[in-house]
Amino acid sequence: MDVAAHLRARLVDSLVAAGVLRDPRWVDAFRQVPRHVFLPGFLVRRPDGAWEPVTSDHPDHLALAYADDVCVTQLDNDDRAWEQALATGAVTGVPTSSSSMPTIMAIMLEALAARPGDRVLEVGTGTGYNAALLCHVLGEGSVTSIDVDPGVLARARAALASAGHHPTCVAGDGERGHAPGAPYDRVLGTCAVSRIPGAWLEQTAPGGLIVTTLNRAVGAGLVRLTVRDGRAHGRVLPEDGRFMPLRAHRQAWADEALHRALTATPTTSRTTLLSARDVLDPAAGFEFFAGLALGDVAVAGDPVRLAHADGSWVRHRGAVVDQGGPRALWDVAEAAHRQWRALGRPRRDRFGFTATPSGQHFALDGTALTWPLP
Ligand SMILES: C[S@@+](CC[C@H](N)C(=O)[O-])C[C@H]1O[C@@H](n2cnc3c(N)ncnc32)[C@H](O)[C@@H]1O
Repeated sequence: MDVAAHLRARLVDSLVAAGVLRDPRWVDAFRQVPRHVFLPGFLVRRPDGAWEPVTSDHPDHLALAYADDVCVTQLDNDDRAWEQALATGAVTGVPTSSSSMPTIMAIMLEALAARPGDRVLEVGTGTGYNAALLCHVLGEGSVTSIDVDPGVLARARAALASAGHHPTCVAGDGERGHAPGAPYDRVLGTCAVSRIPGAWLEQTAPGGLIVTTLNRAVGAGLVRLTVRDGRAHGRVLPEDGRFMPLRAHRQAWADEALHRALTATPTTSRTTLLSARDVLDPAAGFEFFAGLALGDVAVAGDPVRLAHADGSWVRHRGAVVDQGGPRALWDVAEAAHRQWRALGRPRRDRFGFTATPSGQHFALDGTALTWPLP
């Protein structure tokens, strides 16, 4: 067995042992499809936050390509960052394309429950690795993959061809789906969406499934929805899933608002018993519920800040919380924490999600409580 095959087998064994990869068809796909072919070059994060290039002649190329980790392939929507990284050794920037973490890919592919003959639309082609897994199991004639970045798509198409797959690859805005290939039995979003796009509802066949992540800085959710009569209804999955957002769903206002919160004069300043970790760390259990109450907030660390597009902000340092703007966001988080405890600390998989053309909301099982998406 060559080195790549050995490392791949080890990765697959670990995904199977962790219970995230179960269906023998997907196990076989992960065993057979060579991830490194889709990752001739990628960027790894250094402790100082800068990104360092890894090319196929790097001694750790294969080990990194077969680690259960995201491999970033583009920063700031601009391929020049890669050229610059090669020239200078490291660059800074925000990831805008990648091969996602194999664990989350496996969770989503299992949740997709695609059967032979199902037509699948993948939104976010990225490196093409996930499209190759879909082709391996379903056949290339069943797979359509769309990416907004033509350069990213061209590289993915080439990598797919070199691995022997020729799915329909489309350069375009996945928020609009791809009507010529509709209806799809399965829609898989591999970039996060702030709300389920109307085109996905229209282009999914009756009884078909949408699996995607909802793009929220606090309380992101991986959802699996069945489409019927133009509406999608389903569950938040127990696993936490975070993806880079669909381009148009990025929080364009966030950087400036979070920067302002560093030095802004607070309307109130007081102590709090609610820790920043409780609100921001998915492992703490409350984070998903906090996200329902806080809505579309942006988050930064050191010191921890929250900001909302309406101008509300929080600065949390030690046990002291400063707040400003039209709404006291930390008061909202504290009230949500009290409600969460009163409800018996429900976990994320106790929530349903419904998307219709006129509105989208989460709902807690066994209650009449709902939380609309903004
Ligand atoms: C996490 S990567 C996808 C990973 C990919 N499935 C793979 O296996 O490598 C997210 C991708 O979504 C793409 N993207 C962002 N906004 C998009 C949009 N509006 N329509 C289609 N693709 C989009 C980005 O260009 C990026 O390549």
